[in-house]
Amino acid sequence: MTNEKRFLVTLQPSDLQFEQVSALSLLQSALLAGIRMPNSCRNGTCRTCLCKLSTGEIAYQIEWPGLTREEKAEGWLLPCVAEARSDLQLEVPGALRLREK
Ligand code: FES
Repeated sequence: MTNEKRFLVTLQPSDLQFEQVSALSLLQSALLAGIRMPNSCRNGTCRTCLCKLSTGEIAYQIEWPGLTREEKAEGWLLPCVAEARSDLQLEVPGALRLREK
């Protein structure tokens, strides 16, 4: 049994929710929960997954995600290389439920 902390991520406007799974990206955690978010490269370069953080804190799994300092300051993030550090609200209009949990 682990005592890892899990954070709840809510996507808008769909209201879909999933838990951040330790050591996975937000994108991988969503897929594990049966939720598809737009993506392509999954390594932080193509920006297909670019979305906006409404509330909460994240951390990046790589040193140089493909975002400018200004974009980061405005709340844009790349969920394929980011993890939640608190409960989050993200604006992901393209999110879809792939299957029921
Ligand atoms: S899927 Fe390419 S930057 Fe996230």
